[in-house]
Amino acid sequence: MTNNKEQWSSRFGFIMAAAGSAIGLGNLWKFPYITGTNGGAVFLLLYIVFLVLLGIPILLSELSIGRFAGMNAIDSCKKIDSKWGFAGAFGIAGAFGVMSSYCVVGGWVIRYIINSVTDAGMSADYFSEFSSRGLEPILWTLVFMAITCFIVTGGVAKGIERVSSILLPILIVFLLGIMIYSLTLPNAIEGVKFFLVPDFSEIEGFSGFMRIALNAMGQVFFSLSLGMGTLITYGSYLPKESRLLQSTVTVVVMDTVIALAAGFAILPAVFSFGLEPGGGFGLIFQTLPVVFSRMNGGTFISAIFFVLVLFAALTSSISLLEVIVAWVCTKTKLTRTWAAIIVSALIFAAGSLASLSVGAVPQLSVGDVPLFNFFTFMSDKVIMPLGGFFICLLTGWIWGIPNASEEISNSGKLKFRARKLFSVTVRYIAPALIAVIFVTSVFSGE
Ligand code: PHE
Repeated sequence: MTNNKEQWSSRFGFIMAAAGSAIGLGNLWKFPYITGTNGGAVFLLLYIVFLVLLGIPILLSELSIGRFAGMNAIDSCKKIDSKWGFAGAFGIAGAFGVMSSYCVVGGWVIRYIINSVTDAGMSADYFSEFSSRGLEPILWTLVFMAITCFIVTGGVAKGIERVSSILLPILIVFLLGIMIYSLTLPNAIEGVKFFLVPDFSEIEGFSGFMRIALNAMGQVFFSLSLGMGTLITYGSYLPKESRLLQSTVTVVVMDTVIALAAGFAILPAVFSFGLEPGGGFGLIFQTLPVVFSRMNGGTFISAIFFVLVLFAALTSSISLLEVIVAWVCTKTKLTRTWAAIIVSALIFAAGSLASLSVGAVPQLSVGDVPLFNFFTFMSDKVIMPLGGFFICLLTGWIWGIPNASEEISNSGKLKFRARKLFSVTVRYIAPALIAVIFVTSVFSGE
């Protein structure tokens, strides 16, 4: 029996929604850059190892818990053990934290789509000037939040699933198109080298290796939307006969292919125009506009590119909002529409403060860390890993491998050959790895 009335209408729709949640800003701006600066192929290899040791077991655990319990993140964890609701609560808190900065960035992306069309603001300095304006970025944040809210009010099948099933395929096709174009530019090979050629100078010594490993683990977490209750919530809308392991592997493969495609689309173009890729947001908001302004037909490609970034951001932001809305709807008598509006308003309020903290009002900070960075740090480095850690313990030790396997194999109807591997990773390897990331990143204060 599931307690949810809502369900995905098709397997394709669910995969698009779950992959849409995973494929986001983490793939389009973070992955290309972080790979390039962390030893190229060395990073990639570690990333793939962590996909297997952390990504697949945690994603599978979250989906299984969700489908088993059929409720929001907190109540699903409680259904497994009444004392474990806190594991899901990390997700809800984390989703709020991630959304408070994600919606600000989503707003910037909308502004950049308009810039591409009007051919204005396509220089490297524009970004700091724009983001330090007080009111304007907040208005774009509002537009992004309003779109996210509107989709979520449509419900699971008619809102989230329908929109993801349209936006994600468009994103994949056009991103592959841009990738092919970018790879054929003169000197594109320099970008490919930056992206993939192993740079062993980065791994000199143990500490160099640890830094790369930590970055790879962090990226696996963020990119697959783990530890946020997203996959528990999406899993709760799955019909009982769905194939959990197959869906998990499909989402992981799609997320990785798109991250690689983003690297091949962005870096060759950057190097072809003689630029160096900037880190973090600088890559898409400062370096790329310069690339587009020098490219033949750059205005058009720029517009398409930022529309794709917007699509990627939206299919992720709806999953974050849904985690909170699903919970609010069961805890209060609010309808989905009102729950989405109220939660969106709260996120918008936090997002506005975050936006001001990196622009007009730097006093909005915790210590000397602007609120925007504080939200990002707390959600990426603290709440997500802790959420993932407790999900592993809940699945591996409290629920237990026999019960989890019963769910994953649809009560023995499907073969679950990787059961041993799942058991070892979810019970020992994943929690141990997360503990290492967590302790190291908190102590290094990164
Ligand atoms: N995975 C998304 C990205 O790559 C971000 C995200 C994190 C979405 C956590 C939902 C939950 O951008």
